[in-house]
Amino acid sequence: MKVLVVGGGGREHSICWKLAKSPRIKDLYCAPGNAGIAEVAQCVEIGAEDIEGICEFAVAKAIDLAVIGPEVPLAMGIVDKLEAAGIRTFGPNAKCSQLEASKSFTKAFLERHHIPTAGYKEFTDKNQLLDAIGIFGFPMVLKADGLAAGKGVVIAETEEEAGRSIEEMMGQKVFGSAADKVVVEEFLTGTEASMLCFVDENTIVPMESAQDYKRINDGDKGPNTGGMGTYSPSLVFTPELEERIHKEILLPTLKGFQEDGLDFKGVLFIGLMISEKGPKVIEFNNRFGDPETQSVLPRMKTDLLDVFMAVTNSRLADVKIEWKEDKAVCVVLASDGYPGSYAKGKPIAGLDKTAPDVLVFHAGTKISNDDVLTWGGRVLGVTALGKTHEEARRKAYENVAKVSFEGMQYRKDIGTV
Ligand code: AMP
Ligand code: GLY
Repeated sequence: MKVLVVGGGGREHSICWKLAKSPRIKDLYCAPGNAGIAEVAQCVEIGAEDIEGICEFAVAKAIDLAVIGPEVPLAMGIVDKLEAAGIRTFGPNAKCSQLEASKSFTKAFLERHHIPTAGYKEFTDKNQLLDAIGIFGFPMVLKADGLAAGKGVVIAETEEEAGRSIEEMMGQKVFGSAADKVVVEEFLTGTEASMLCFVDENTIVPMESAQDYKRINDGDKGPNTGGMGTYSPSLVFTPELEERIHKEILLPTLKGFQEDGLDFKGVLFIGLMISEKGPKVIEFNNRFGDPETQSVLPRMKTDLLDVFMAVTNSRLADVKIEWKEDKAVCVVLASDGYPGSYAKGKPIAGLDKTAPDVLVFHAGTKISNDDVLTWGGRVLGVTALGKTHEEARRKAYENVAKVSFEGMQYRKDIGTV
């Protein structure tokens, strides 16, 4: 089979690494890929948001399956376009992609189907929103409705901060048109956890859990990032809690998709707040999480191609997805300045020094004259497996110490609970 993966980050590297183990795949392509992906797949110089270019390539190569990694091309309707061109595609269509691309779409869905979530109100007028400061008390949760690269949420502690954020969002338009509509939510307290699920029209199957570390600094301090590391399985979930999430969130979500004619097929990533009153949905994403995927897929025993094919055939219920007992820890190595602005093009040393059983997923890298250079905010994800979380953590950090580039920063507390 010929498979095309769209994207070029750590998530896509871990997907390509896992697919490359499938005996049925003859040709594995990735558009655009990166320096690490180039070791397991043929990278094609087409941007992940160049929908036309990707469709042309997929048709020209007679691709049997396309797999879409990032949220932006999904929201742009890449799945609809590829399917119209006759290409089988893993990922939700444009209609279903609103579950990530519009917070108000998701809030209305959750409310309609009585799925536990924070109360909310939406605004399209700046002055009305300014008048509503504090409607749910403080902190005030303000969310740009549209996609904002994970940065569109502000938790304002005070009236002044809320006023300033509203001015930035709706006056200065720092998130562009993504904040033409702003959703205000009740502030939830508890422990955050995320759950990735495979979904087709009949079935929803959670993967093994993973715990993300969103903030840049140790102890969960500093600004939010795309994710500075993960470990799997998460120690937040107990069997009782999983059962509750299944009954109160997963099954009503699947039923809601069916009732609303949302033929979701792909990965639904559910951000949860485990509050005193039980689990509540913070958000939906409609693709694999990054870096969650980098600690989850190394633990999967089942051939990922079988799962992708089952989902695209609406036969997910027929595959038994098996997992290793081993635990995984993934530490993200980021550029100096991330999540703000950062320099690119720093040579990376030590990639040949890491242990053979440790996985170094590339997130933002590029090859130039045989050198591997930094080419993004998040540069690498170092994943190690171990019999215990502690062993995985120790191995991950031992290998992080072998890699270096100018300005490299990483959290020292990934995998400690
Ligand atoms: P989101 O992009 O919707 O996941 O929000 C980003 C982060 O903001 C979440 O991971 C939470 O830490 C926080 N957050 C979002 N919504 C709420 C809420 N209603 N209450 C408390 N914290 C929230
Ligand atoms: N790690 C969070 C995300 O992928 O959105």
